[in-house]
Amino acid sequence: METIDFEQIRLPKHVAIIMDGNGRWAQLRGKHRTFGHKAGAEAVRRAVTFARQKGIQSLTLFAFSSENWKRPQQEVSVLMDLFFTVLKREVKKLHKHNVRLRIIGDKQAFSDKLQQRIAEAEALTAANTALTLNIAANYGGRWDIAHAAKQLAEAVQAGKLSVEDISEDKLADKLCLAEQPAPDLLIRTGGEHRVSNFLLWQLAYAEFYFADVLWPDFDEHAFARAIADFSCRERRFGLTSAQVQQAILDTDVTTGE
Ligand code: FPP
Repeated sequence: METIDFEQIRLPKHVAIIMDGNGRWAQLRGKHRTFGHKAGAEAVRRAVTFARQKGIQSLTLFAFSSENWKRPQQEVSVLMDLFFTVLKREVKKLHKHNVRLRIIGDKQAFSDKLQQRIAEAEALTAANTALTLNIAANYGGRWDIAHAAKQLAEAVQAGKLSVEDISEDKLADKLCLAEQPAPDLLIRTGGEHRVSNFLLWQLAYAEFYFADVLWPDFDEHAFARAIADFSCRERRFGLTSAQVQQAILDTDVTTGE
């Protein structure tokens, strides 16, 4: 294959993913939906490795929405156990690979044990610089904006901010992910074309990419296709989509291998 200058490919700085399709993936195999969530956790591991190797700065995964509490109690409980187990099992590996972990969302609804595990994982990885992995759990875009508005209102009430000084920038500073570049690529798997109350403010200028593949089947090739598509929307430098996609798969920008 001819050599392609990887510098020419425009990589997204921040990829946000709505991981949809776990339940259908399991049902297609005659299994319980929770089987799909376990397979989904494996796809999360693959996506994080891929993002880290390709030099993406931030990866934000929608793991549990504010609305997901309405699912059957047993499914909610399996998801909570899965978050706890995965945090316990993966955090040392994430740390070893220089990944910073952040959990965004209303964490107060989680058990004390889970909240403690989250705090420990965030503290351990706080200074890491290779990739920031944001897991959105009990997250809703409307909640995020309302929560930010509440903080501004409190600052006004305390006499620290005047109403005239409230601006888009001031509100954005109070949102989850404020200190990270805005997501430039949103991927949604599972065939639906909806934003489902994810990062409503932060996605204002993102490119949207919808994949029919169910989340547990989202592998390196599917991720590379999404990035190739993103890259092609702006600049392809005369390359074909297939070439760009192959270059992304072939090149590990962190190790140069
Ligand atoms: C959506 O599929 C998926 C979820 C609501 C849960 C996502 C959870 C994981 C990928 C597991 C582990 C995650 C972490 C971060 C450890 P769905 O159940 O709505 O699928 P369906 O549309 O086919 O019903």
